[in-house]
Amino acid sequence: MSFQCPKGTFDILPYGAKEPWKHAFLWHYIEGVFREVVTEYGYQEIRTPIYEKTDLFDRGIGESSDIVMKEMFSFTDKANRPLSLRPEGTAGVMRAFLEHHLDQSYPYHKLFYFGPMFRYERPQSGRYRQHHQFGVEMIGSSSAEQDAELIEMLCRAYDRLGLKQLTVQLNTVGDLPSRQAYREALLTYLSPYKEDLSEDSQLRLQKNPLRILDSKDLNDQKILENAPSIYEHLTEEAKAHFEKVQETLTLLNIPYHLNDQIVRGLDYYQKTVFEITAQSTSAQNTIGAGGRYDGLLHSFGGPNLPGIGFASGLERVLQLLIEQQAPLPQETSPFLYFVPIGEGAKARCIEFASTCRKAHIPCDIELNGKKLQHALQYADKKKIPYVALLGEEEIQNNTLQLKNLKERTAEILSQNDWLQKITTLYS
Ligand code: HAM
Repeated sequence: MSFQCPKGTFDILPYGAKEPWKHAFLWHYIEGVFREVVTEYGYQEIRTPIYEKTDLFDRGIGESSDIVMKEMFSFTDKANRPLSLRPEGTAGVMRAFLEHHLDQSYPYHKLFYFGPMFRYERPQSGRYRQHHQFGVEMIGSSSAEQDAELIEMLCRAYDRLGLKQLTVQLNTVGDLPSRQAYREALLTYLSPYKEDLSEDSQLRLQKNPLRILDSKDLNDQKILENAPSIYEHLTEEAKAHFEKVQETLTLLNIPYHLNDQIVRGLDYYQKTVFEITAQSTSAQNTIGAGGRYDGLLHSFGGPNLPGIGFASGLERVLQLLIEQQAPLPQETSPFLYFVPIGEGAKARCIEFASTCRKAHIPCDIELNGKKLQHALQYADKKKIPYVALLGEEEIQNNTLQLKNLKERTAEILSQNDWLQKITTLYS
């Protein structure tokens, strides 16, 4: 019997992956850049469980959303509690925020997270049943400038990674009164088409007609072509907020494209929503997305604090980096490889390797009596730049032979000051 990973999932490997974006060192690299950028903006990490009570997602993301209706990995535990693997990070972060009364610590909260998310979608390139997100949540500020700062931060992270030709698609879904007015207008417009709408959209017509704007059904999309726009129904406040976001983005030199089709697949959004899309060969070209969710914490029974956030799909970011041939790091390898020749040399090499590691110099050691030629071939393949050989002769002379595999040179080091030399080479 042979096992394979479940449909829609994949392994991240140290080396040997058929598709380069599945190499762990690339994941470390992009995670490092995201972490670095958001730390520069004052964000701190939060980690929450990968499963939560199903109810949290029903209430947070919305019962009429595709995610809750069709895509959750839900199960009951042995005590019959309904649980779900998290399909996204925001709901869990809000739950943790309230559970630990973080609002009592500071007026503002800038939180970030990494982690796997689970959605039962039809897998294809760029779309997985287990995908990985980098996300941020900014709680406590309702200022429009905050929205712009957050969008700028995501653009900065993509820019630092070397991604090009990205577009910020910006929209507003209005505040509650705007949405209420828009809902009525949409209902009036869509009701005569009721029979022509897809089954899902017919269901949504009463429950949440705004969701219909997100329909992938081609006929629904055709009907929607002449639908009223949210812009005609914005309250003065929602309009002013949206204008301020745009003004601040201009101030920050972030180009954006207004797109009133962006409604987002989750129900918690209010006011600003955005997606960052790439000109890519992949159909899944939204690499990051987010928006404001001012009523969410309150709907969970918490204080009425505003919030805004985004998440970016790490698979899509990596695939795009590779497609755009952006500069990427190489697979990491030890700096030095100790090769003892003979049993006597082995114990000395073990000591040397231990000293090296104490000095924070990554090294490896051949412990299986591999022949010199094979050991050198292995070091070469692993791209280890230096090999330290210790044989009978070196033991007698109190030396080490240091080979530079790239330059194909060798030199003799004294065992008294070898570490100094290696430290200099490593720094
Ligand atoms: P989302 O748009 O559902 O938003 O997902 C965020 C990003 O995750 C997407 O733009 C995409 O890059 C990636 N993504 C989503 N589903 C998949 C999938 N099946 N396979 C691969 N990548 C995927 C959220 O999840 C919100 N929680 C974002 C947010 C945070 N809004 C406010 N705060």
